Amino acid sequence: MSMSHLLSIEDLDRAAIERIVSQAERFAEVADREIKKVPALRGRMVLNLFYESSTRTRSSFELAAKRLSADVVNFAAGGSSVEKGESLKDTVLTLSAHRPDVIVIRTPWVGSAELVSRWCNAAVVNAGDGKHEHPTQALLDVYTLRRRLGALDGMQVWIVGDVAHSRVARSNIIALQRMGAKVTVAGPPTLIPRDIEAMGCEVRYTLQEMHRADVVYALRMQLERMTDSLVPSRREYAAWYQINSRRLRPRQLLMHPGPVNRGVELAGEIVESPRSLIAAQVEAGVVVRMAVLYELLSGARPAEKPSLRPAPEPQPA
Ligand code: NCD
Repeated sequence: MSMSHLLSIEDLDRAAIERIVSQAERFAEVADREIKKVPALRGRMVLNLFYESSTRTRSSFELAAKRLSADVVNFAAGGSSVEKGESLKDTVLTLSAHRPDVIVIRTPWVGSAELVSRWCNAAVVNAGDGKHEHPTQALLDVYTLRRRLGALDGMQVWIVGDVAHSRVARSNIIALQRMGAKVTVAGPPTLIPRDIEAMGCEVRYTLQEMHRADVVYALRMQLERMTDSLVPSRREYAAWYQINSRRLRPRQLLMHPGPVNRGVELAGEIVESPRSLIAAQVEAGVVVRMAVLYELLSGARPAEKPSLRPAPEPQPA
């Protein structure tokens, strides 16, 4: 199966997830070299289109493209003609004139990445569409867990917090289950969607049984996506659901997609604890996104199989 876009993690079966993660492991070797660059995507163009704030995702897509020697154009909606009312479609059509090979897009709108894939010829990567999906986050989380624990089969993962507004939760529930893990979601009833069990996970409204988890995956409270007051207060949320050193057992691993609201979903003291994989997740972001870009572009033109030789020294003109 070769992939023409990455819009949803649902489009990837277990074999495809394993292929991308294994490719990312090969790229990790490049990251350890003194010259962290390969010519695989030389002459290709990656357009980063961000309508929503981002620290990790955007910087790692940019770095991933550069390590593969692609050209990168970063577009942020703030400071662009979007502020003058240019629509998403017009913006995409305008920027398509630069003939990007890949468009990486993040917006607050569900389904936006799929729309973009219909408007242009580029391969489209969904870097977050509202509360719907964030497939590269799920891939980097699978990569991080595989590196730390080996196979995910039979592993118990608890996803805790604001599941209702979380594209990370949706993509991870699908990906982790495809890799053989058992997923439980836990949080206040107002932040757990009613139909979430249909995705195959268990639901808990307290953390009483959290000691069963091998991995605790805390979610950020998505305060910007909450239209009603769904939790009484941050302090009350923390009292019931905050992951802290009392609730997390020494053998349990901790994950979080970032950015962390310290003192809300996580106690500050455990963010940098040895059980925390948070820094490893960020590091994984670059190699996993390299693998995604490589997969998309090497599949498209099999005649020009990208090369992983180190980039030659630049020659004087
Ligand atoms: C997440 C996002 O934006 O979806 N962050 C990320 O990409 N690492 C999670 C979040 O915002 O809570």
